[in-house]
Amino acid sequence: MSITTVAVIGGGTMGNGIAQVCATQGKQVVLVDVDDAALSRAKGAIEKSLQRVAKKGVIAEGDVGTILGRIATSTKLADCARAELVVEAVSENLGVKTKIFAELDGLMPAGAILASNTSSISITALAAATKRPDKVIGMHFMNPVPVMKLVEVIRGLDTSDETLSAVNDLSEALGKVPVEANDFPGFVSNRILMPMINEAITALMEGVATKEAIDEIMKLGMAHPMGPLTLADLIGLDVCLSIMEVLHRDLGDGKYRPCPLLRKMVAAGHLGRKTGRGFYTY
Ligand code: NAI
Repeated sequence: MSITTVAVIGGGTMGNGIAQVCATQGKQVVLVDVDDAALSRAKGAIEKSLQRVAKKGVIAEGDVGTILGRIATSTKLADCARAELVVEAVSENLGVKTKIFAELDGLMPAGAILASNTSSISITALAAATKRPDKVIGMHFMNPVPVMKLVEVIRGLDTSDETLSAVNDLSEALGKVPVEANDFPGFVSNRILMPMINEAITALMEGVATKEAIDEIMKLGMAHPMGPLTLADLIGLDVCLSIMEVLHRDLGDGKYRPCPLLRKMVAAGHLGRKTGRGFYTY
């Protein structure tokens, strides 16, 4: 299946990055968000990011405009209809995502693939909101998308081999490495990463060490590129909390209980980099 147009739904941290990578690799992109302001922020962020890439010599300065020209923005879901594949990257909320999948199913051509960038929500549940469960799949990009090589590809219960192979091919065409995981809460990446971040927040809450010490110990001691609290701020503390809630609810084990300090930070609106304040100030 040849994919020339990709629709990306959600122009936040991840949607920006996915749109940028698709456009850089020559795909036409339709970027949809409910919020007009989010779309202008997204365009600004993509332009800045492309200029940084151009400064490093990865793309020519003159390509920035051409790549941006491949990205159309819209607040209407119906504008996705000309794409062969949609990547949904809206907030990590089952109700919101299910509604979008049901709507997309009604407006996309029969052959189109519906992918979700969800961090933890069941692909099988999203597929069940459509009449094309064979064409629904998880396409979990990592943050920051232009830099990170992995796409965790998640098969729902009824995802077809054709859909899997089209998404593997697209991931490779985007310069990424697809790795397959089955549909379990948090898949592989967040089943392992998020409990570690949650534990780092618990260690901070209990006064085991300062935030700087926790991050430095994990960086220098475990050869992680950044500490878990810095990473939580990059991911977004609301996203971290949503993922822990899915792990806790769907696996039913107390070891996945979201840390009360994480809940408190989210309640205060201190969501990390995207709001200028999380465990650190930006
Ligand atoms: P974000 O909060 O930065 O952006 C979400 C965007 O979705 C916002 O611009 C919002 O206006 C938009 N939105 C909400 N409801 C919508 C709707 N009904 N229709 C269209 N747009 C809508 O979130 P972020 O971090 O980009 O996360 C998006 C998805 O990617 C989530 O499922 C998250 O779990 C996943 N993810 C996040 C990662 C991260 O590091 N932040 C990493 C990998 C996956």
